[in-house]
Amino acid sequence: MNKMKVDILLGLQWGDEGKGKIVDVFTPKYDIIARFQGGPNAGHTLEFNGQKHILHTIPSGIFHPETINIIGNGVIIDLKILQDELEKLKDKGAEPCKNLFISKKSHLILPSHRMLDAAYEKSKGDSKIGSTLKGIGPTYTDKIARLGLRIGDISMANFMERYEKLKSLHFDILKTYSFDINQHTIDGLKFDEYEQKWLNAIDYISDIKTIDGEQFINDSLKAGKTVLAEGAQGTLLDVDFGSYPFVTSSNTVSAAVCTGLGVAPNSIGKVFGVFKAYCTRVGSGPFPTELFDNTAEELRVKGHEYGATTGRIRRCGWLDLPALRYSIMINGVTDLIITKADVMDDFDEIMVATHYKINDNMLDYMPFEVLDKNLDVVLEVHKGWKQSITDANDENQLPDTFMEYIEYIEKAVDCQISVISVGPDRKQTIMRRL
Ligand code: GDP
Ligand code: IMO
Ligand code: MG
Repeated sequence: MNKMKVDILLGLQWGDEGKGKIVDVFTPKYDIIARFQGGPNAGHTLEFNGQKHILHTIPSGIFHPETINIIGNGVIIDLKILQDELEKLKDKGAEPCKNLFISKKSHLILPSHRMLDAAYEKSKGDSKIGSTLKGIGPTYTDKIARLGLRIGDISMANFMERYEKLKSLHFDILKTYSFDINQHTIDGLKFDEYEQKWLNAIDYISDIKTIDGEQFINDSLKAGKTVLAEGAQGTLLDVDFGSYPFVTSSNTVSAAVCTGLGVAPNSIGKVFGVFKAYCTRVGSGPFPTELFDNTAEELRVKGHEYGATTGRIRRCGWLDLPALRYSIMINGVTDLIITKADVMDDFDEIMVATHYKINDNMLDYMPFEVLDKNLDVVLEVHKGWKQSITDANDENQLPDTFMEYIEYIEKAVDCQISVISVGPDRKQTIMRRL
């Protein structure tokens, strides 16, 4: 049998593009769904049968009992958050541990990493990143510094000794920041309480099978199994290609699937890029098409643009084609998936940024100078379709003006839009070319 390829689904903007919803819709086509980077900074929303579910660490294939879900080596894990997620799923009647596997090489987010995240953000003052404070930056820092602890280390005899050693190193750093842990909480709990729950979670998660993830996935591909890699965050939050330093601490792009799961570049198949019909961003950093008027509020209210992980309001703005072209290029996107156009059903006019302008220079991609205060956007006006698209279940039921807008985007970014999502529910998904 021919070795199968790994398909990838990831976000092309600043996260929250609707990745979780689409992965859930795609899951019946795949044997394995695997997260390859990020951690509980992610919040992936799934809706079906009138219920809403938000996943942070667990892949979005978990509601399909036959599908295997893998948390890959590139993901970082907070044991307490993972336990909370599992408990919620069990309360809803799911059996999340049955087909969930964690790579032994995934790194652990310690409670002290979370305190460090808070200390670093506090020290940045007005230039803070707006981190979700889930310990992402400090945990990836320790991974690269070769200090980190991994899921596989938990079963080693000296785990607690290594845990205490790393924690004590973190406390020394916190002292240099004059950061008093007694004055701060982690998700509303004092450090000691959180730590106790984190340590108790070790027993709770012992039901989950830990694996050599890279071997498992490659063996599965050889055996003819299909794999979908689920991205977290978005391309514009990538540590290399995003609006640095206002980014997350992992590579969020398609290349990260190779290192985050242990598959070779020639094992990559399709790359599905999800984008919203407008843009949103949580936290600080440049956002060229950001709106500050009533339209921003309309997008926020109609699109329920409040963070799935932190509840913070999401900044809103028009679709940014230079940024989209850039993301398609970096990821090698083969198929686009557009979400949330239905949020603009009532709009008379819809704007789209076609170019950036810096000191009279026109650019059609995202440059290093995206932080430049002189960066301006060139906007083009499109007629709104002024009718609800949420009940459409076939391309032919979509208004002509809407389809003209879809074809305009395809041409402008030179990539086909294969799926159109017209609402948050699983069923509100139109497969055009798949
Ligand atoms: P993710 O992080 O990329 O998985 O996205 P989030 O779950 O953080 O945010 C996307 C939000 O939009 C969620 O509340 C989804 O239920 C919702 N959503 C997804 N697709 C659509 C769509 O096509 N239309 C509307 N109105 N909502 C959508
Ligand atoms: P999903 O997977 C949107 C943002 C944070 C902050 C920056 C750094 O749901 O799309 P971090 O906690 O990583 O140190 O935060 O990145 N951020 C996200 N924004 N969606 C996400 O994930 C995000 N994960 C991180 O708001 O600006
Ligand atoms: Mg999200």
